[in-house]
Amino acid sequence: AFAGCTSSEETPAPAQGDVPETTIFIVGIDGEYPPYSYIDSEGNPQGFDVESVRWIAENQGFEVKIQPMAWDGIIPALVNGKIDMVYSGLTITDERKEKVNFSIPYWVVNQSVAVQEDSGYTLDDFKNGTLVIGAQRGTTGQMWVEKNLIETGLMSKDNLKTYDNFPLVAEDLKNGRLDAAIYDKPPMLDAIAGKPIVIVGEINTGEEYGVAIRKGDVDLLNSMNEGITTLMADPYWEELKIKYEMA
Ligand code: ARG
Repeated sequence: AFAGCTSSEETPAPAQGDVPETTIFIVGIDGEYPPYSYIDSEGNPQGFDVESVRWIAENQGFEVKIQPMAWDGIIPALVNGKIDMVYSGLTITDERKEKVNFSIPYWVVNQSVAVQEDSGYTLDDFKNGTLVIGAQRGTTGQMWVEKNLIETGLMSKDNLKTYDNFPLVAEDLKNGRLDAAIYDKPPMLDAIAGKPIVIVGEINTGEEYGVAIRKGDVDLLNSMNEGITTLMADPYWEELKIKYEMA
């Protein structure tokens, strides 16, 4: 039932045959989502969520393989069994709950809106539907614009541009192809650092991040919930927050 397999080759043969093989679960991430999940300069997956799942795996007695992939297809990949969980700043939504199960929440964020520093655009301009807006495809930021600006008739759907990853959005905002961008605030701060781009406001969505797990994988869901609860009560949780400047 799992995308991961058992690691019989990596585990030394038990003398008595009574050491259980360790299950490997494949964890899908967006490799462009700092500080939660990204690829470091040596090409290794890193970040707050990546370190969290490694700790939880150790705590719960399984192994993980971190699999960077396209964000827009990440839930289908989970449903189709290519990966075993999504642990990458994924917001718990009712729509997604129809397809997958979610762990208990481990983080809360708002959406943020960014514009070019010297553009003079405000959060009101954004909310009035007068700007050309960029968002990462398949995110709650995109969904917010669709629901609140396009479906209400405030903005033409042509004024929403979607991209595979957020660095591409930030690039087009910088070079003026977009007037504004919407994204979860922590990765937005990371994406605009050092660029002539500023956050002009937040939309208080109060979204909760959770780990998505295939429906039916109840043991894994229980184990992740136990692991998250244990992690959040452990001093390591505070260390992670400090390390990734989220305290
Ligand atoms: N939290 C938002 C969502 O669930 C954005 C997530 C983007 N995450 C990522 N790893 N790119 O849609």
